[in-house]
Amino acid sequence: MIQLIKGFKDILPEEISLWQEIEAAAREMFENFGYREIRLPIVEKSELFARSIGDTTDIVEKEMYTFDDGRRGLVTLRPEATASVVRSYIQHKMAAEDPIRKFYTIGPMFRRERPQKGRYRQFYQIDAEVFGIASPLIDAQIILMLVSLFERLEVTDVSAHINCLGCPTCRPFFQKALYSLLEAKKDALCENCVRRSEKNPLRTLDCKVPSCREALAEAPSILDFLCSDCKTHFDTVKQLLDKQNIHYQVDRHLVRGLDYYTRTAFEILTTSLGAQNAVAGGGRYDGLVQALGGPSVPAIGFAIGFDRLAEILSQTRTAAAKRPKIYMAPLGETCRTLAFEWACALNLSGVPTEMDFEDRNLKHHMKRADKFHAAHALIFGDNELTQGHAVLRNMETREQKEIPIVNLVTHIINLIR
Ligand code: HAM
Repeated sequence: MIQLIKGFKDILPEEISLWQEIEAAAREMFENFGYREIRLPIVEKSELFARSIGDTTDIVEKEMYTFDDGRRGLVTLRPEATASVVRSYIQHKMAAEDPIRKFYTIGPMFRRERPQKGRYRQFYQIDAEVFGIASPLIDAQIILMLVSLFERLEVTDVSAHINCLGCPTCRPFFQKALYSLLEAKKDALCENCVRRSEKNPLRTLDCKVPSCREALAEAPSILDFLCSDCKTHFDTVKQLLDKQNIHYQVDRHLVRGLDYYTRTAFEILTTSLGAQNAVAGGGRYDGLVQALGGPSVPAIGFAIGFDRLAEILSQTRTAAAKRPKIYMAPLGETCRTLAFEWACALNLSGVPTEMDFEDRNLKHHMKRADKFHAAHALIFGDNELTQGHAVLRNMETREQKEIPIVNLVTHIINLIR
């Protein structure tokens, strides 16, 4: 038997209603805050991700699904959505008309990570991005929107962690200080961290190897190196969140796994999935639009791990499958053809109706109606047809009612809706 590939998964019909509920809540929340949906390709030029996420990140160094597409060169299954949203914003010259744009997009992403609980090679993100607003007000608002969505979905075991990653003015001072520590602790660091120390020392703070974590526990924090603009920006974000009663923790070592961030960075963490895990993450990326060839436009965004959020919610919710309102229980060939016609008409009229497509006896029909948790069964054989009515049985109370055969569909619609 051919099985699915490890790290990939099926989202089965039993799970789908929860996914739909999450998606509907996110759409409603985002639309209310003025975000508009954008749908982007799953495949982009590899260069787009290398230049935006950073070529010394885990994602670009080892997790991308990349292949040679002949004349088009190297292409990659998107590992995240931000780079594509930025590419689209630049390509369609959106800044010329109005630099302020808010987007959301929902879809599959691909990273060749080591599969484990909550970590897949194809996973889904609910992503939101804002362009053209430099004010810390939008940082606070986007975090408020994200936290409120979790609250609305009644996800309780989550905490917001925030940090400020500085800007091109102040970050080099921090990088220098961090590099000195890395040099001193070289022997305790993993191969990756040693290699990245010089080119991208910030990455070492994101390393999960225990010896690196231990060696860097006392690492300096970027917060001690912020320039006055970054400091004011971060202080204002915190004050705004306090005013809005949004609880958060400042995590002095939070760096995120992608290189494009500047200033505010944040993650929503949960313990519901075993070890502490991020169910969402994001931040400001004021330099990315320009770095990818666009105008100088600030931006901020986040992505929610859809699979992880669905997993958390599935621990407390049982998804209710859609129940048919009518189960057709025809007895005999003539009645089965009629049941087929009525079932089609009822389904098209918005009355969910099920039937068995084989010839069955009454006992079988009742068993199936119960299995489907149908609200009613419509029972009719040749006798009922001659008498001009069918029997509508309430499957819960077992109460029965006669329904005229003439205009039966209309009678049922009037009764049921
Ligand atoms: P990220 O932190 O790489 O950020 O991913 C965001 C979320 O996607 C994570 O917090 C996690 O819940 C989920 N996620 C990531 N990898 C996996 C995986 N292998 N399996 C399951 N879930 C996963 C970004 O992708 C940025 N583009 C977010 C952003 C938007 N920043 C600014 N705008």
